Amino acid sequence: MARLKIINYGHPLLREKALDIKKVGSRERALIAAMAETMYAARGIGLAANQVGVLERIFVVDVDQDRDAPNETLSRRLRVFINPEIIEESHEDEPFTEGCLSIPGIEGEVYRPKAIRIAARDENFEPFVADADQLLARVIQHELDHLNGVLFVDRLPALRRRLLAGKLGRMRRESLAEFEALGPVYPIEV
Ligand code: NI
Repeated sequence: MARLKIINYGHPLLREKALDIKKVGSRERALIAAMAETMYAARGIGLAANQVGVLERIFVVDVDQDRDAPNETLSRRLRVFINPEIIEESHEDEPFTEGCLSIPGIEGEVYRPKAIRIAARDENFEPFVADADQLLARVIQHELDHLNGVLFVDRLPALRRRLLAGKLGRMRRESLAEFEALGPVYPIEV
């Protein structure tokens, strides 16, 4: 299975709204498997299709993986969300320090609802509804943002964003240069 190139902050496809998918066929299955492999290889706990340059409403999450387990693979529990929608959220927000595979080296405290209820389809395109709190709720909201072209740095307070402006500006320029060099053909296997 292929591992895919993760695009970085500044890449235009991270700012696009992804579209609902109509079915899960062999192409989608291969994409989901490649996204999972890419997420694990990057030591992430979530990855959205936009991050590999694909504008489809799919993200993968694994908040159960234990990197210190003797057999890390056995601790994995991959969750696939297709066409996800948050249908309820708690009134109470809480802060949590987030990072993102597409914004390496940058972290920031983001306030989001503590608990959510999500409706989505799974890897077999079966609809389901799930309740999530703690880390799972956090990651789901972060990944769903990606599908709408929103990044966690957009949700940081203005002062924190100003402090990061130099770093983000450099990342944006590099990313744009790379996009112009590689062209718009995604996903890219690495
Ligand atoms: Ni992210």
